[in-house]
Amino acid sequence: MDPAPGAPVSPPSSPPPIGRSAPVAAAPVPLGPGSVRLIRHGRLPLGLLFQLEQLQQLFDAHSFWAQKRTRGALMRMLLGSATVVSAWRNGRLVGIGRATSDGVFRAVLWDVVVAAELQGQGLGRRIVQALLSSPAVSAAERVYLMTTNSSGFYARLGFTEHHGQRLLVLYRRR
Ligand SMILES: CC(C)(COP(=O)(O)OP(=O)(O)OC[C@H]1O[C@@H](n2cnc3c(N)ncnc32)[C@H](O)[C@@H]1OP(=O)(O)O)[C@@H](O)C(=O)NCCC(=O)NCCS
Repeated sequence: MDPAPGAPVSPPSSPPPIGRSAPVAAAPVPLGPGSVRLIRHGRLPLGLLFQLEQLQQLFDAHSFWAQKRTRGALMRMLLGSATVVSAWRNGRLVGIGRATSDGVFRAVLWDVVVAAELQGQGLGRRIVQALLSSPAVSAAERVYLMTTNSSGFYARLGFTEHHGQRLLVLYRRR
Protein backbone atom coordinates (compact mmCIF):
# COMPACT_ATOMS: atom_id res chain seq x y z
CA MET A 1 0.00 0.00 0.00
CA ASP A 2 1.04 3.58 -0.61
CA PRO A 3 1.88 5.04 2.80
CA ALA A 4 -0.55 7.62 4.14
CA PRO A 5 0.34 11.20 3.19
CA GLY A 6 2.79 12.57 5.69
CA ALA A 7 3.60 9.17 7.12
CA PRO A 8 7.31 8.76 7.81
CA VAL A 9 9.01 6.71 5.15
CA SER A 10 12.54 5.73 5.89
CA PRO A 11 14.64 5.54 2.75
CA PRO A 12 16.50 2.27 2.56
CA SER A 13 20.11 3.18 3.19
CA SER A 14 20.59 -0.40 2.19
CA PRO A 15 17.32 -1.37 0.51
CA PRO A 16 15.61 -4.20 2.33
CA PRO A 17 15.63 -7.70 0.87
CA ILE A 18 11.91 -8.11 1.46
CA GLY A 19 9.84 -10.96 0.12
CA ARG A 20 11.60 -12.59 -2.79
CA SER A 21 13.62 -9.49 -3.59
CA ALA A 22 17.32 -10.09 -3.61
CA PRO A 23 20.53 -8.20 -4.26
CA VAL A 24 21.73 -8.93 -7.77
CA ALA A 25 25.40 -8.78 -7.01
CA ALA A 26 27.29 -9.54 -3.84
CA ALA A 27 29.44 -6.47 -4.29
CA PRO A 28 28.07 -2.98 -4.88
CA VAL A 29 28.66 -1.43 -8.28
CA PRO A 30 31.52 1.05 -7.84
CA LEU A 31 30.36 4.32 -9.36
CA GLY A 32 32.30 7.30 -8.05
CA PRO A 33 31.83 8.36 -4.45
CA GLY A 34 29.31 6.13 -2.73
CA SER A 35 28.14 3.00 -4.46
CA VAL A 36 25.15 1.69 -6.31
CA ARG A 37 23.32 -1.41 -5.19
CA LEU A 38 21.03 -3.36 -7.49
CA ILE A 39 17.96 -5.15 -6.17
CA ARG A 40 16.00 -7.62 -8.27
CA HIS A 41 12.45 -7.73 -6.97
CA GLY A 42 10.02 -10.59 -7.25
CA ARG A 43 6.28 -10.40 -7.81
CA LEU A 44 5.81 -8.34 -4.66
CA PRO A 45 8.34 -5.49 -4.84
CA LEU A 46 7.68 -4.20 -1.34
CA GLY A 47 10.92 -2.23 -1.15
CA LEU A 48 9.69 -0.14 -4.08
CA LEU A 49 6.03 -0.02 -3.11
CA PHE A 50 7.09 2.03 -0.09
CA GLN A 51 9.17 4.35 -2.26
CA LEU A 52 6.61 5.37 -4.87
CA GLU A 53 7.46 9.05 -4.50
CA GLN A 54 11.08 8.32 -5.41
CA LEU A 55 9.96 6.27 -8.39
CA GLN A 56 7.67 9.08 -9.50
CA GLN A 57 10.54 11.56 -9.21
CA LEU A 58 12.94 9.33 -11.17
CA PHE A 59 10.45 8.97 -14.02
CA ASP A 60 9.50 12.65 -13.98
CA ALA A 61 13.11 13.83 -14.04
CA HIS A 62 14.82 11.28 -16.29
CA SER A 63 12.27 9.85 -18.73
CA PHE A 64 10.07 11.54 -21.31
CA TRP A 65 7.37 8.85 -21.66
CA ALA A 66 6.71 8.03 -18.01
CA GLN A 67 6.15 11.48 -16.56
CA LYS A 68 3.18 12.41 -14.39
CA ARG A 69 2.27 8.85 -13.53
CA THR A 70 0.27 8.80 -10.32
CA ARG A 71 1.45 6.81 -7.35
CA GLY A 72 -1.61 4.59 -7.55
CA ALA A 73 -0.86 3.78 -11.18
CA LEU A 74 2.80 3.16 -10.38
CA MET A 75 1.76 0.74 -7.67
CA ARG A 76 -0.43 -1.21 -10.11
CA MET A 77 2.39 -1.10 -12.68
CA LEU A 78 4.85 -2.65 -10.19
CA LEU A 79 2.39 -5.33 -9.12
CA GLY A 80 1.69 -6.18 -12.76
CA SER A 81 5.36 -6.68 -13.65
CA ALA A 82 7.04 -10.07 -13.60
CA THR A 83 10.40 -8.60 -12.58
CA VAL A 84 11.55 -5.21 -11.40
CA VAL A 85 15.18 -4.16 -10.91
CA SER A 86 15.96 -1.08 -8.86
CA ALA A 87 19.29 0.68 -8.27
CA TRP A 88 20.03 2.55 -5.06
CA ARG A 89 22.73 4.95 -4.04
CA ASN A 90 22.90 6.24 -0.47
CA GLY A 91 19.20 5.52 -0.02
CA ARG A 92 18.19 7.23 -3.25
CA LEU A 93 16.55 5.45 -6.17
CA VAL A 94 18.87 6.10 -9.13
CA GLY A 95 17.78 3.47 -11.65
CA ILE A 96 14.90 1.24 -12.60
CA GLY A 97 13.88 -1.33 -15.17
CA ARG A 98 11.05 -3.82 -15.36
CA ALA A 99 9.75 -6.66 -17.48
CA THR A 100 6.52 -8.46 -18.20
CA SER A 101 6.65 -12.10 -19.25
CA ASP A 102 4.56 -15.22 -19.83
CA GLY A 103 7.57 -17.18 -18.58
CA VAL A 104 7.84 -19.34 -21.70
CA PHE A 105 7.50 -17.58 -25.03
CA ARG A 106 7.53 -13.81 -24.76
CA ALA A 107 8.91 -11.19 -22.43
CA VAL A 108 9.03 -7.41 -22.84
CA LEU A 109 11.33 -4.89 -21.16
CA TRP A 110 9.85 -1.58 -20.05
CA ASP A 111 10.86 1.70 -18.43
CA VAL A 112 14.64 1.34 -18.20
CA VAL A 113 15.83 4.61 -16.67
CA VAL A 114 19.13 5.72 -15.09
CA ALA A 115 19.46 9.07 -13.30
CA ALA A 116 21.24 11.50 -15.61
CA GLU A 117 24.26 12.05 -13.35
CA LEU A 118 25.02 8.31 -13.38
CA GLN A 119 24.45 7.63 -17.06
CA GLY A 120 27.35 6.38 -19.13
CA GLN A 121 28.93 4.40 -16.27
CA GLY A 122 27.52 0.96 -16.95
CA LEU A 123 24.48 1.09 -14.67
CA GLY A 124 21.92 0.78 -17.48
CA ARG A 125 23.77 -2.30 -18.71
CA ARG A 126 23.67 -3.83 -15.23
CA ILE A 127 19.94 -3.19 -14.91
CA VAL A 128 19.13 -4.78 -18.28
CA GLN A 129 21.41 -7.75 -17.59
CA ALA A 130 19.67 -8.28 -14.24
CA LEU A 131 16.29 -8.23 -15.97
CA LEU A 132 17.45 -10.64 -18.67
CA SER A 133 18.82 -13.11 -16.14
CA SER A 134 15.71 -13.06 -13.94
CA PRO A 135 13.80 -16.38 -14.02
CA ALA A 136 10.69 -14.94 -15.70
CA VAL A 137 12.66 -13.33 -18.52
CA SER A 138 15.46 -15.86 -19.01
CA ALA A 139 12.84 -18.55 -19.62
CA ALA A 140 11.24 -16.64 -22.52
CA GLU A 141 12.34 -17.57 -26.02
CA ARG A 142 12.10 -13.94 -27.22
CA VAL A 143 12.59 -10.65 -25.42
CA TYR A 144 11.10 -7.53 -26.98
CA LEU A 145 11.41 -3.85 -26.24
CA MET A 146 10.41 -0.56 -27.77
CA THR A 147 12.72 2.42 -27.74
CA THR A 148 12.62 5.88 -29.27
CA ASN A 149 16.26 6.91 -29.14
CA SER A 150 18.24 4.29 -27.22
CA SER A 151 18.53 1.52 -29.80
CA GLY A 152 22.32 1.89 -29.73
CA PHE A 153 22.32 1.10 -26.02
CA TYR A 154 20.26 -2.07 -26.51
CA ALA A 155 22.39 -3.09 -29.49
CA ARG A 156 25.38 -3.14 -27.11
CA LEU A 157 23.44 -5.68 -25.08
CA GLY A 158 22.72 -8.04 -27.96
CA PHE A 159 19.35 -6.77 -29.19
CA THR A 160 18.91 -6.41 -32.92
CA GLU A 161 16.48 -4.26 -34.85
CA HIS A 162 13.66 -6.24 -36.36
CA HIS A 163 12.17 -5.11 -39.66
CA GLY A 164 9.92 -8.02 -40.47
CA GLN A 165 6.98 -6.88 -38.37
CA ARG A 166 5.20 -3.63 -37.71
CA LEU A 167 4.43 -2.12 -34.35
CA LEU A 168 0.72 -1.42 -33.94
CA VAL A 169 -0.72 0.50 -31.01
CA LEU A 170 -4.27 0.96 -29.74
CA TYR A 171 -4.28 4.34 -28.02
CA ARG A 172 -6.69 4.79 -25.17
CA ARG A 173 -7.72 8.03 -23.55
CA ARG A 174 -6.87 8.23 -19.87
C1 LIG B 1 19.41 4.60 -22.02
C2 LIG B 1 19.99 4.47 -20.61
C3 LIG B 1 19.11 3.56 -19.77
C4 LIG B 1 21.38 3.87 -20.71
O1 LIG B 1 21.91 3.70 -19.40
P1 LIG B 1 23.44 4.05 -19.10
O2 LIG B 1 23.74 3.67 -17.70
O3 LIG B 1 23.69 5.44 -19.48
O4 LIG B 1 24.17 3.09 -20.13
P2 LIG B 1 25.53 2.26 -19.90
O5 LIG B 1 26.55 3.17 -19.31
O6 LIG B 1 25.24 1.02 -19.16
O7 LIG B 1 25.92 1.95 -21.40
C5 LIG B 1 26.16 0.63 -21.88
C6 LIG B 1 26.69 0.76 -23.29
O8 LIG B 1 25.69 1.36 -24.13
C7 LIG B 1 26.21 2.56 -24.71
N1 LIG B 1 25.10 3.52 -24.73
C8 LIG B 1 24.45 4.06 -23.68
N2 LIG B 1 23.46 4.86 -24.10
C9 LIG B 1 23.48 4.82 -25.46
C10 LIG B 1 22.70 5.43 -26.46
N3 LIG B 1 21.65 6.25 -26.17
N4 LIG B 1 23.00 5.18 -27.75
C11 LIG B 1 24.04 4.35 -28.07
N5 LIG B 1 24.82 3.73 -27.15
C12 LIG B 1 24.53 3.97 -25.86
C13 LIG B 1 27.34 2.99 -23.81
O9 LIG B 1 28.28 3.79 -24.49
C14 LIG B 1 27.91 1.66 -23.38
O10 LIG B 1 28.72 1.16 -24.43
P3 LIG B 1 29.96 0.15 -24.18
O11 LIG B 1 29.37 -1.23 -24.30
O12 LIG B 1 30.89 0.44 -25.30
O13 LIG B 1 30.53 0.43 -22.84
C15 LIG B 1 20.13 5.85 -19.93
O14 LIG B 1 20.90 6.69 -20.74
C16 LIG B 1 18.80 6.53 -19.63
O15 LIG B 1 18.18 6.29 -18.61
N6 LIG B 1 18.35 7.42 -20.55
C17 LIG B 1 17.11 8.16 -20.33
C18 LIG B 1 15.90 7.27 -20.34
C19 LIG B 1 15.82 6.41 -21.60
O16 LIG B 1 15.83 6.93 -22.71
N7 LIG B 1 15.72 5.07 -21.40
C20 LIG B 1 15.59 4.11 -22.48
C21 LIG B 1 14.16 3.71 -22.59
S1 LIG B 1 13.86 2.54 -23.91
